[in-house]
Amino acid sequence: MSLQDVHQLSDDARKVFAPTSSFSWNLVSTRQTQFAYFDELLGRPVWKGRKVLDFGGNVGTFLESSGKNVDHKDYWCIDLNPAVIAQGRLRYPRAHFVHFNRYNSQYNPHGVRHLPIHDCGVKFDFILAFSVFTHVDEKEMIELVGSLRRMLSTDGVLAFTFLEPSFDRSLSDPRLPRGSTVFLNLGPRRNNEAVRRARWFVLIDDQLYIQPGDTLCHQTRTGKPLESFCSFFTAEHMRSLFPGATIHPPVQREWQHCCILRNSSP
Ligand SMILES: C[S@@+](CC[C@H](N)C(=O)[O-])C[C@H]1O[C@@H](n2cnc3c(N)ncnc32)[C@H](O)[C@@H]1O
Repeated sequence: MSLQDVHQLSDDARKVFAPTSSFSWNLVSTRQTQFAYFDELLGRPVWKGRKVLDFGGNVGTFLESSGKNVDHKDYWCIDLNPAVIAQGRLRYPRAHFVHFNRYNSQYNPHGVRHLPIHDCGVKFDFILAFSVFTHVDEKEMIELVGSLRRMLSTDGVLAFTFLEPSFDRSLSDPRLPRGSTVFLNLGPRRNNEAVRRARWFVLIDDQLYIQPGDTLCHQTRTGKPLESFCSFFTAEHMRSLFPGATIHPPVQREWQHCCILRNSSP
């Protein structure tokens, strides 16, 4: 999968997720705000000399944002998309880029179902995932979070983002009209009481699935290659899924919430 495939995306997919001109970030990320975002939410920890796993780190732009705070040799990126892993290796030869060849309709349609996460042979002080669990269902998120927690050092911390449907994006971007929530983008469906009360829901292209149980798990469902799969969880639901986690609203003008689990959390 590469940027050349963008033309294959359905019109619905483009409409729901991003302006067409910026859609390609969904395959090759140009985001450079990850370090500032996690640095603020984690309370400006010492990064130097500590090992970082950027799960779903794409081409590794985290390293641009972290500057001298993170040595490239202490940085690992694990991602489903073989094209971005290849690109990351070229761009940051001292860092470690690992292809996670697990099936995912959106990012790795030729992958293997149920593949466990690669054991990198190190324990990580920071495991970060920006805009990654926004593309899996509840079941796979719980499974992957469990696996990642086992990869933490004794005082390690896992921080990952999620999309809270009621967050007003104008708080992060004042150019947006007040009340710019995900619900607003759902059109008339936003008035549906079941949508408003949902603890979580998934949008596949323009199709909405409210609390779909296990039916949309990438590891058992077959999706269309390159479809857009986007999941949304309320902050309250995340608290109930991950007891001991702290849940934080967006910072650094981002619009994703953050769930933080310290190794000492229950
Ligand atoms: C929206 S991009 C975000 C990229 C990067 N974290 C950033 O902030 O710019 C989502 C990335 O997560 C990867 N991804 C999605 N699901 C994943 C999974 N289950 N395991 C590993 N990587 C995954 C995708 O291949 C893609 O590179």
